[in-house]
Amino acid sequence: MPTTVVTGAASGIGAALCLQLSEAGHRVIGIDRANSDINVDLSTPEGRQQAVSEALERCNGVLDHVVLCAGVGVTAPSCGLILAVNYFAVSSLLQGLVPALSKGTQPSAVVVGSVAGVQPGADQQPIVELMLAGDEAAAIEAANQANQPSMAYAGSKYAVSVLVRRLVHDWAKNGVRLNVVAPGVVETPLYKASTEDPRYGEATRNFVAPLGRGSQPQELAEAIRFLLSPQASFMHGTVVFVDGGMDAMMRPGRF
Ligand SMILES: NC(=O)c1ccc[n+]([C@@H]2O[C@H](COP(=O)([O-])OP(=O)(O)OC[C@H]3O[C@@H](n4cnc5c(N)ncnc54)[C@H](O)[C@@H]3O)[C@@H](O)[C@H]2O)c1
Repeated sequence: MPTTVVTGAASGIGAALCLQLSEAGHRVIGIDRANSDINVDLSTPEGRQQAVSEALERCNGVLDHVVLCAGVGVTAPSCGLILAVNYFAVSSLLQGLVPALSKGTQPSAVVVGSVAGVQPGADQQPIVELMLAGDEAAAIEAANQANQPSMAYAGSKYAVSVLVRRLVHDWAKNGVRLNVVAPGVVETPLYKASTEDPRYGEATRNFVAPLGRGSQPQELAEAIRFLLSPQASFMHGTVVFVDGGMDAMMRPGRF
């Protein structure tokens, strides 16, 4: 029975994934702010540390899979919080859990990014370099000063995808595969809140994928389960868009 840690387990993509994994026979250790096996605030270093130590205790130091879904969107109370959850919690949990993964069976991990990471200008922001340098205080201060939630979100998702790519050698040495799934629109509470936001609501509602609809969280869970599985045994360091064609629509001349 594989043992799998899932963050953001209480809602949306994470909750759909936990259900599918449990049905497939995984022992799931969920992490979220509330209503999960481990209830912590991943925006703080203390919460992340508690998440890692409780997860390691529950799995006796051996994990087969980790999926990092927890995230906040453009309606988060501050831009700094977007970086803290979407980037720094991911970076910290990957680092804290890789020793346990390296002892697992055909181990693998998936980080949930976003098609927003390829939005024009996402990669050009000073906050991206600060995130990748691991300077949480400076990154959060810069994001709060700029006060552009949409760009902070896009930057956090760009940075987390680059982080995964930079880890390919280290993780391969540990025998652990690591990939990113980049959703487009997924019908979850996070997306619904964006559609109701006075600043971003109209643009969010009008941003429709070529397939003409948003996805259901179960569709993302299916893709994540594939990447975790031995069927994806040669996939490592890649970003898989599960976005109904949004990336292709936004960047038709590039890949
Ligand atoms: N919904 C979309 O359209 C969409 C699109 C692209 C990417 N994503 C990404 O998918 C992931 C999952 O989002 P979702 O759409 O399922 O949203 P969701 O709001 O349904 O779920 C996110 C979960 O993360 C948890 N979380 C947030 N902050 C936390 C914190 N500080 N500590 C612990 N847990 C915390 C929430 O409590 C929630 O259960 C996120 O990383 C999001 O950025 C979503």
